[in-house]
Amino acid sequence: MEKRDMIYEGKAKKVYTTDNPELYIVSYKDDATAFNGLKKGAIAGKGAINNQMSNLLMRMLSEHGVPTHFVEELSERDTVVKKVSIVPLEVIVRNISAGSFAKRYGVEEGIVFDEPTIEFSYKNDELGDPLINDYHALALKLATREEIETIKAMAFKVDALLKEYFKSIGVDLVDFKLEFGRLADGTIILADEISPDTCRFWDSKTHEKLDKDRFRRDLGGVEEAYQEMMKRVRGK
Ligand code: TMP
Ligand code: ASP
Repeated sequence: MEKRDMIYEGKAKKVYTTDNPELYIVSYKDDATAFNGLKKGAIAGKGAINNQMSNLLMRMLSEHGVPTHFVEELSERDTVVKKVSIVPLEVIVRNISAGSFAKRYGVEEGIVFDEPTIEFSYKNDELGDPLINDYHALALKLATREEIETIKAMAFKVDALLKEYFKSIGVDLVDFKLEFGRLADGTIILADEISPDTCRFWDSKTHEKLDKDRFRRDLGGVEEAYQEMMKRVRGK
């Protein structure tokens, strides 16, 4: 399978058409941004790590009944995925307080919730991905009521599976962001990526941050954190 035309370039990935109208190739970059593109940089080796980690996790999820866009890993950075139209919602699941949750509600980071939370942001860079609720998503016709229910159920199932998976490699899954897509027939599947760019990972014992917060917050050891996460996922 080969790349044809680049149809999209995002902050961390490029997407290409292929000779199969139902498949795309995504190519992961080392580029990193934060705060809606305000902070720019690169994390050496990130593209290869995110590609391979995301593929491993998507494979695990699909074995447990979660439909995903993953088709085939082509190389370190390139993967064949099913063509979808992305539902313009960032779906955020949280198990432990951190980031914008801690800031918005004025609580410390590290509070373990009794139950996971879910929230949606409207995927719109110009507006800075504003937080929205189900009714807003319906009003804006971003998804149908049925699709929203499907997305919520899938997101909580992904959380349960990932939480258990990461626990077994000594990592607390603090929170993460998912994106979903529609196949041509309307079926909702998991798309985008699952990686240290899109999740918060804390070492279970030391609580050391092993994710993109090291870049966002200038904590140093960014590459090492991505490598450590990849090592643990590979060793599983
Ligand atoms: P937040 O606490 O900043 O809202 O982030 C929640 C989770 O979502 C965290 O694991 C990082 C991830 N995330 C993204 O993947 N993309 C984004 O643009 C943002 C803001 C967060
Ligand atoms: N990727 C997002 C951006 O550039 C934000 C983030 O991950 O913090 O803005």
